[in-house]
Amino acid sequence: MSIVRKIGRSFRRDGLWRTLILCTRNIHPAKRDVAPSDFDIRFGLHTEGRVELGDLKIDSPSYLRGNAYAPTPPSVFDRMMMLLPAPEKYSFVDLGSGKGRVVLMAALRPFKAVVGVEFSSELSAVAETNLVKFRPHVRSSDVRLVCNDAVLFNFPPGPLIVWFYHSFAKEVLARVFERLIQRQHETIFIYYNAHYHELFSECDVLYSDKDICIWKIAGTQSHLSSSNGTEVGDKVPAITRLAGGGAATEKHETRKEIL
Ligand SMILES: C[S@@+](CC[C@H](N)C(=O)[O-])C[C@H]1O[C@@H](n2cnc3c(N)ncnc32)[C@H](O)[C@@H]1O
Repeated sequence: MSIVRKIGRSFRRDGLWRTLILCTRNIHPAKRDVAPSDFDIRFGLHTEGRVELGDLKIDSPSYLRGNAYAPTPPSVFDRMMMLLPAPEKYSFVDLGSGKGRVVLMAALRPFKAVVGVEFSSELSAVAETNLVKFRPHVRSSDVRLVCNDAVLFNFPPGPLIVWFYHSFAKEVLARVFERLIQRQHETIFIYYNAHYHELFSECDVLYSDKDICIWKIAGTQSHLSSSNGTEVGDKVPAITRLAGGGAATEKHETRKEIL
């Protein structure tokens, strides 16, 4: 569809103010699909490529506070997984899961459950197709894609790891955060492309570098070590500072230090 037609459609559908916001959002040099990533080629998937929310039909009050789809690089995800305790006792949730890349990368590990939450039905449909193709590689026994606003999502019980690639604005994150801090169980929040550090000011920082911060935001059952190796709590499943990268595979991941 031409840009002029898109603007016309948006004007009719969303009104002037919303259309102006969406126009500014869509002025982005890197917004179109690019060549498939190695991850996509390896598994025959389609997770690459930026998608602007203005190009999608989303019925959600948080629509204007959402950020475009862009996938987490596998190398970043693998590096973070190497820092975490063994996955078996945790559920994993990706907030704003888009085409499902993070969900699939998590599903390569034996998490108790892996859930992707995405408010675009179009992106969720792409993720579902990817998941079907990916099934033979899945090691988690419970992998699900939920098409819903993250604000309305009910987190699974028990120890939890949340992945957040800057999917939405601070107001929305604050609402999700309010729910997470009330959890009784251990809750680890991984924020890639971290912006709103102030929301987490009361939380233990478990790891931090220029792109990523990991906080423990709820629960009393586990204590992890900080980025310089200093213990944050007294029972210490250790997360230590990264010593370089290292691509993990589904079967041969080498964690730097674990429980
Ligand atoms: C930067 S992408 C992250 C994609 C994926 N999590 C990853 O790391 O590869 C942000 C995604 O969040 C979704 N999103 C934005 N606001 C949302 C909300 N309130 N609820 C659910 N999904 C949302 C967008 O549609 C987009 O797919």
